[in-house]
Amino acid sequence: MVLIPRVNQILKHDLFKEYSQYNSQAEEKRAFCRHGLDHGIAVARIAYIYLLEQQNTSLSKEVIYAAGLLHDLGRWREYETGEDHALAGAELVKPIIQDSGFSIDELETITQGIREHRLNPEGKMSLLGRALAYADDWARDCRNCLIKEACYKYTEQMDEIIC
Ligand SMILES: [Fe+2]
Ligand SMILES: [Fe+2]
Repeated sequence: MVLIPRVNQILKHDLFKEYSQYNSQAEEKRAFCRHGLDHGIAVARIAYIYLLEQQNTSLSKEVIYAAGLLHDLGRWREYETGEDHALAGAELVKPIIQDSGFSIDELETITQGIREHRLNPEGKMSLLGRALAYADDWARDCRNCLIKEACYKYTEQMDEIIC
């Protein structure tokens, strides 16, 4: 077992709890995938595995998990104002990252990854942004979704197990 105390600090942060609550309220009636803690943890784990396979040596497990857990925390702002949740979220999570003991460099890495998580992972971006962008798709079980044909994210390839 590897201890990741700064990541667990994030979960206890008042703003993390507050924004998570806003997200679940905003998505209460959402038919498509929601963006709760289960999604954050799934993205963190898949991004971590992807980076292990890439033989990543530059990003710590805590940085990867922090980014995974926080990447959609700004979703509620998009529902309220139409702002891109990747950009809005990257700003909103800064105090949470700082208060949880991450350095300024780590904060920059995490927020850059969050800003990039909706971009095409085949394009030019940071290593963490690419890991989050892939993990975001791979974390979803489209095969069993009854309304996948109506989902903007769905492609036939998602019916297969991709990794
Ligand atoms: Fe997102
Ligand atoms: Fe996501």
